Amino acid sequence: MDLLKILEEVVHPALGEKNIVELGLVESAEEIDGKVEVVLAFPKKPDPLKDYLVGATKAALIRNLPEGTEVEVRTVVKAPANKPEKLELTLEQVSCVRHIIGVASGKGGVGKSTVAVNLAIALARAGYKVGLADADVYGPSVPLMTGTEGEIPDAVKEDGKDLIIPIEKYGVKWMSIGYFAQRSQALIWRGPMACSALKQMVLQVKWGDLDFLLIDMPPGTGDIHISLLQEIPVEGAIIVTTPQAVALSDVEKGVDMFRNKNIARKIYGIVENMAWFTPEEHPDEKYYIFGKGGGASMAEHFDIPLLAQIPLVQSICESGDSGEPAALSSRPDSLAFIALASALASAV
Ligand SMILES: Nc1ncnc2c1ncn2[C@@H]1O[C@H](COP(=O)(O)OP(=O)(O)OP(=O)(O)O)[C@@H](O)[C@H]1O
Ligand SMILES: [Mg+2]
Repeated sequence: MDLLKILEEVVHPALGEKNIVELGLVESAEEIDGKVEVVLAFPKKPDPLKDYLVGATKAALIRNLPEGTEVEVRTVVKAPANKPEKLELTLEQVSCVRHIIGVASGKGGVGKSTVAVNLAIALARAGYKVGLADADVYGPSVPLMTGTEGEIPDAVKEDGKDLIIPIEKYGVKWMSIGYFAQRSQALIWRGPMACSALKQMVLQVKWGDLDFLLIDMPPGTGDIHISLLQEIPVEGAIIVTTPQAVALSDVEKGVDMFRNKNIARKIYGIVENMAWFTPEEHPDEKYYIFGKGGGASMAEHFDIPLLAQIPLVQSICESGDSGEPAALSSRPDSLAFIALASALASAV
């Protein structure tokens, strides 16, 4: 006798006619020595239909089980399963941050983390106090790009709250979920867990006094982004893209997300990454391998300034892998990030 099948007949009249099994109200259902025992678990908040449901459950069992079967239906009070843990965090910890700026892209792999890390360093070189939170909980890249892999952040207790101390290097304070997981370890987060991990990377950090807190957002424009933007006082964003025509639709998604009336954040500008290719040995040459003027026409199309164009150069890629970002150097590729930093600073 499939007890769950029988219990599926019991619908909760107030909850969209969903049955008690799909609502997760059935804690257990078993048959012991010919007696059927069902335990229904209700959340702490009193359910006015509790008694009705107990009666309806009993009736369904009696109706479907062989005559004379003893039936007992009990209830327990329980917090519903799968409920994401509420982070008891406020914004006080980040209140001494003057500008929180998201670095976003509609699509992955366009160089968002590269831009975020180098922009952070360029801002620090310009004398600003800067932090960067790597909110890409699925593929954190900040530890590798900054050569801080293997570092383990300290924690302090302040007013009863545990705060994480960011890792400092190159004059920037870095925080990433990557510091808490092995590099080889795949980070598999379910939606609510990912959201709370990500919020922790921003809100539970002792940033101290900052002019800029950049947030390297995960690629895409999903639920995680909406939740991040709703719970963290991100002032505005920059959108990173590449010049191809396909990037246009990705940028559109990114722009729509920030301009959505429930979000309504500023977009400071578009950063066109890999705008042209410059060979290492011919620093004066520009090859527009993904097309020319893509960034400018996107900027015009969306009525957003084109903040900077970053060339595709081997050293940017290599310096990302070696943990010494290009913006630290005085090569031409570094100048592109310095130009971006000053464009952003005047935009905010
Ligand atoms: N301007 C550039 N010149 C050369 N290589 C670059 C440039 N920008 C990014 N790259 C390289 O491209 C790769 C992807 O960059 P990055 O990880 O920054 O992208 P992303 O948008 O953050 O990706 P994801 O969506 O996975 O987070 C990296 O190997 C990086 O070194
Ligand atoms: Mg990235």
